[in-house]
Amino acid sequence: MLQGRRVLLAVTGGVAAYKSAFLASRLVEAGAEVKVILTESAGEFIGGQTFAAITGGQPLTSLFGETSVSPHTELARWCDVVIVAPATASTIGKVANGISSDLVSATLLVTQSPVLIAPAMHTEMWEHPATQRNIKTLESDGYLFIGPASGPLAGGDFGMGRMSEPDEIVEAVETILSPDDSALRILVTAGGTREPLDPVRYLGNRSSGKMGHAIADEAARRGFRVTLVTAADMDVLPTVKVVSVETADEMLEAVSGEDADVAIMAAAVADFRPSKLSEGKISRADGLDSIELSPTPDVLASVVARDEKLFVVGFAAETEGVERAIEKALEKKVDLLVYNDVTEPGSGFEGDTNRVVLIDNEGQTDSWPLMSKKEVASLLLDRIVGDLATRG
Ligand SMILES: Cc1cc2nc3c(=O)[nH]c(=O)nc-3n(C[C@H](O)[C@H](O)[C@H](O)COP(=O)(O)O)c2cc1C
Repeated sequence: MLQGRRVLLAVTGGVAAYKSAFLASRLVEAGAEVKVILTESAGEFIGGQTFAAITGGQPLTSLFGETSVSPHTELARWCDVVIVAPATASTIGKVANGISSDLVSATLLVTQSPVLIAPAMHTEMWEHPATQRNIKTLESDGYLFIGPASGPLAGGDFGMGRMSEPDEIVEAVETILSPDDSALRILVTAGGTREPLDPVRYLGNRSSGKMGHAIADEAARRGFRVTLVTAADMDVLPTVKVVSVETADEMLEAVSGEDADVAIMAAAVADFRPSKLSEGKISRADGLDSIELSPTPDVLASVVARDEKLFVVGFAAETEGVERAIEKALEKKVDLLVYNDVTEPGSGFEGDTNRVVLIDNEGQTDSWPLMSKKEVASLLLDRIVGDLATRG
């Protein structure tokens, strides 16, 4: 189950490089978005065009002068996981000693994502004290290893040093990326609630749910245990538990039933609902002079009141300026309030971008430039994780 996960496959110069083409293919079949980087020596064993055809993107081989100014930092931050397969003794040695002299080793020294290394080499190389020392260093630095196995090697030899099979590597990646029981529990709300007037009509708002869904996706991509309570109908990663709701009452009930460490309340919950729900469709002939409204439950307030330890992030889509939002952050007693002025270009409800100001529980602000909702989601999670670490 790698649907939507971003896998960076680093291929180095060993005979087993041919197996990494199968690996790339298995990863794509499993739904992953796969990018490939090759060392110069890997290019002696397998052509970049093979990976381009399998993944739909041209592999990169050089730190300099290809498509990006800084490919190693871009790729290192883009991926959810890196697989080095096959991993040569040479690349293992470089990374263990902090040498970042090519695209693969430089990317491995930058990335904060988990790295799974699949060594492949002749038995003598594998058993060499230098190789074993480097492996121990990398293990203690947090790198993960799969294999090698014992079996047929290049040149008709047999012994320890054979690269693990592609299917085993895919399985290991699935395990690495699936949330474990100790992962942070993140509750996200999304979408605009709909408050029915009759069986056909409702009072709603223009929230698309894109922001909340982007947060849920990004949190799942990071291995958190995510529950999304949503009034929007949009796809999310399969590891997200989705609870679909329509009204503010349903959202309150769904949220109350979910334990969490962090609650990110990105939904636009209606403040009012029609006081009376008509059982039949209200007809034009009967007329309707006015609609009486009643307040809906305050879902955000209920979450804040629930547990002091719960880190709560509120969202405020306003039209009255940041000063009002600061007041709101302090009144609501949230840990963070994400404010956006919906009248600003690029910050509206239905778009793919947002310009937000973060307000903390002391009213301190941090204004972010216009960026995609995915980028807002990623930076917001960085900020939450940072705040939780400071809290201890
Ligand atoms: C035919 C041939 C096969 C090789 N197979 C391996 C191998 O399986 N594992 C390994 O660590 N090195 C192997 N090497 C040596 C590497 O290609 C060499 O150390 C190279 O510098 C590795 O560079 P890289 O780690 O940047 O890809 C092989 C070399 C040749 C000529």
